[in-house]
Amino acid sequence: MHSFVSMRDLSKDNILDILKLANEFKNGFKSDILKDKVIASCFFEASTRTRLSFDSAIAYLGGKSIGFTESGNTSLGAKGESLVDTLKIIAGYADALIIRHPLDGAAVLAQEICSIPVINAGDGANQHPTQTLLDLFSIFETQGSLDGVSLGIMGDLKYSRTVHSLLYAATLFNMKLYFISPPSLHMKDEQLFILKQSGVQYSFHADVSDVIGKLDCLYLTRLQKERFDLSVPDLSVPDLSVPDLSVPENYKLSLSMLDNAKPNLKILHPLPRQGELPIEIDNTPYAYYFQQAQNGLYVRQAILSLLF
Ligand code: CP
Repeated sequence: MHSFVSMRDLSKDNILDILKLANEFKNGFKSDILKDKVIASCFFEASTRTRLSFDSAIAYLGGKSIGFTESGNTSLGAKGESLVDTLKIIAGYADALIIRHPLDGAAVLAQEICSIPVINAGDGANQHPTQTLLDLFSIFETQGSLDGVSLGIMGDLKYSRTVHSLLYAATLFNMKLYFISPPSLHMKDEQLFILKQSGVQYSFHADVSDVIGKLDCLYLTRLQKERFDLSVPDLSVPDLSVPDLSVPENYKLSLSMLDNAKPNLKILHPLPRQGELPIEIDNTPYAYYFQQAQNGLYVRQAILSLLF
């Protein structure tokens, strides 16, 4: 693995190797494989979990992190330097580059420009592959397998990059997918095409209560409001001047929606959450999103180790 910009970079065996190593880190394995290495951590978009878990992983592996948490204070943000020039310069200062950027395809661009390994920490609405690996780790940890898992995915399926990356993994592990979203936030055709091509079973549902009894995991996402294109009129919205950005009631999880849940159900969420995942769910045995976020540390230690 030279770079990691898309889930398409990984085979099923690659994924299982990463999860196995991540499990070793979780169980106390120590390594200083990044001793004398400098990792550039460049976040052109806000982050809490991804940035800090990568920084923590680099520190635990004996490396040094450089970078920035918002681009306004760089020469790109303050003096109009191009992204291409910025990436070329950073590549000369570090042994690997971690990049988060609001534009789809920014990580692939970085991979083409930089001679050092590039890790995609989320590019626009495109992909967030390291998130998917920690999602898979959490599914495996709670279900004992990835093959054939029944996975509900609820919320913003159109703009959520974590969902788009997760779909590639679903094709490798023959998961059964149940999509629960408002019609305006359904999966895009290109994503459905990938599922069709690989023979993955999927279905659409308006209400999670209709399918909750079939699910091993329920993966929620927030509405990715920062990615909604308000400049393009959506003819399905009656009042074009005031788009409704609130979470529709039937896409907010409630305790009663979990009445028929299987005992093994686990609720996952990449976080941060908004109204779709109320805090009363935190006290149920189904909640697993905080453990999921912590698993990001072990998975990112494994990814960095395998890159080097
Ligand atoms: N899940 C995730 O990417 O969270 P952050 O935006 O806080 O990194």
